[in-house]
Amino acid sequence: MSNAAKQQPYIIKSDPVEERYARGWHCLGKSADFTSEPQAMHYFGKKLAVYRGDQDNKLYVLDSYCPHMGADLSRGKVTNNNLHCPFHDWSWGGDGKCKNIPYADKIPEKAVIGSYPTTEVNGLVFVWHDPEGNDPIPDQYPQRIEDYYSGEWTDWNIAKFTIHSNCRELVDNMADMAHFGPVHYSTVQTFKNIQDGHTFTQFMSGGHEILAEEGQGFTSVARYEGPAYMTTTMTGSMEGKEIVTHLLVTHVPVNTEQFDIRLGVMMKKIEGVSEEQNQAMVDEYTNMAVESFVQDVDIWNNKIRVDNPLLCDGDGPVNMVRKWYSQFYMDVAEIPKGLQAYKERETKIKYAHATQHSGNSETSNETEALPQ
Ligand code: FES
Ligand SMILES: [Fe+2]
Repeated sequence: MSNAAKQQPYIIKSDPVEERYARGWHCLGKSADFTSEPQAMHYFGKKLAVYRGDQDNKLYVLDSYCPHMGADLSRGKVTNNNLHCPFHDWSWGGDGKCKNIPYADKIPEKAVIGSYPTTEVNGLVFVWHDPEGNDPIPDQYPQRIEDYYSGEWTDWNIAKFTIHSNCRELVDNMADMAHFGPVHYSTVQTFKNIQDGHTFTQFMSGGHEILAEEGQGFTSVARYEGPAYMTTTMTGSMEGKEIVTHLLVTHVPVNTEQFDIRLGVMMKKIEGVSEEQNQAMVDEYTNMAVESFVQDVDIWNNKIRVDNPLLCDGDGPVNMVRKWYSQFYMDVAEIPKGLQAYKERETKIKYAHATQHSGNSETSNETEALPQ
């Protein structure tokens, strides 16, 4: 019998998550999917009514429960850009103000409901969520993807998933170099992250069992703009052809325990191939991207949140991405400068099977201490 005291197991901290949703642009789907027929959407712990003005074609997002007597506005009708409640026909403007009550002389002063700024870019619809109720921050609008407008690319193919976890788990992925091998069967050769203001980027190169053919390289540049909208430019291969795609991974919290992900793919059309063949290729590539993605989904659906991850020296900068991400859960005035400062971290790759191919032994990977 040894006298050595038995080492105590590591204690996982997993505090309940506060009910606050991130400030920033959240994508609700493709522009083409919205009309003046209102749609109900359950996000940010609420029910929302989303519709286009029948006159101005603008997208409006309102809280869906009518403060008069609680009817569901998403079951109402739109006329003159206003949403009419199906119960007593009060009509609500896209600015949240009551515009008309057909049987009253005076509209009560308090007759205002929650309304959310929207924008449309890259064929996608976005809603601005801000617990402080401020207007969108001017430099945080999603950037235009010129390829989308060039005519040389297919439109987005989008698949939607509901994940039973807090959406913070998804964002860890940006720094989580070590999951690519075990979860995606991809070999990572280089891995780098850059944080800058409201953006966080992951640069990766290696091989990918699903999205690139054997012996073919795979590169990916994935960038979050704000807390919830990520686009990736990937180069992989299929049927011997180089495939260049933009991947969309965008999420919206349903509540603190559930979120929806929209996974989208658009592909640079291959020259000399018909529209139908290009569409068939992007469909097939989307299926493969979905296949790769559900590997993450299965992990998320079954994991817990670890506030104090037990990290090792080979891990990517998980705490760095978490700190960066925390800015979206603070009032703007409270954000410490460091969370938005420019920072670069290259993660030293120790996988034997990855380094064999890399030929990049001279790359001086600084092993910087992980921020704790
Ligand atoms: S409940 Fe909406 S108008 Fe009465
Ligand atoms: Fe992943």
